[in-house]
Amino acid sequence: MFTISLVGQKGGSGKTTVALGLAVPASIAGMVTAVIDVDPQATASNWKDRREAENPAVVSAQASRLKQTLEAARSSGAEFVVIDTAGRNDDSALNAARLSDLVLIPTRANIVEIETLRAVSDLLRIAGNPRALVVLNGVHPTATKTAEEARRMVRSVFGLECAPVHLCHRQAYADAPVTGQSPQELDSEGKAGIELDRLFKLVIEHVNKGTLEHV
Ligand SMILES: Nc1ncnc2c1ncn2[C@@H]1O[C@H](COP(=O)(O)OP(=O)(O)OP(=O)(O)O)[C@@H](O)[C@H]1O
Ligand SMILES: [Mg+2]
Repeated sequence: MFTISLVGQKGGSGKTTVALGLAVPASIAGMVTAVIDVDPQATASNWKDRREAENPAVVSAQASRLKQTLEAARSSGAEFVVIDTAGRNDDSALNAARLSDLVLIPTRANIVEIETLRAVSDLLRIAGNPRALVVLNGVHPTATKTAEEARRMVRSVFGLECAPVHLCHRQAYADAPVTGQSPQELDSEGKAGIELDRLFKLVIEHVNKGTLEHV
């Protein structure tokens, strides 16, 4: 079982968007996939209520029961698990980071959000330095230079690795959840879906580098 968590201090940075945008291609690829929603806002669980397709499974869980929930997912044969955490730096994010093989940190490419990565970097250290990647989100489609500058800052100031793939600001990210879909399902040739699929491929490369068994 490979476990990914989405963490970050800022609300609205794209944690749930990325969580679901990875869980959908994982289940389409044939992996037994589960999203564990530990955010009291229950955004991922509500998405599932609006969704017609059976997969991926979405489990709403209390943050304090995360370890047990992961054990249950493993026992029921889950291969790819995505933990969607709440937008703050609390014990739930710390717990999720501790229990994950890969931590993804979606971040808007502006200084106000990038500055919050200092707290995330501290959290990762306390969690024992799990593999972690910052994912720039909401980048203007023509702002390649802004993304490059943001990547440089993330690396040099906060010592965090940045994914070579970023997600642009696109309407499909906001439209897809309305019907409980991912952007890939809404338009298989759309740019948002293509970006998410590239991110998914990158994550799979991490999976193939070796699964760390935590639970
Ligand atoms: N790249 C993008 N382009 C356009 N809209 C986006 C993009 N990424 C996310 N959004 C929209 O921004 C809003 C916030 O995204 P999301 O719910 O994924 O953030 P979050 O980090 O999970 O927030 P929270 O901390 O509240 O859980 C949603 O309405 C989502 O559809
Ligand atoms: Mg969310």
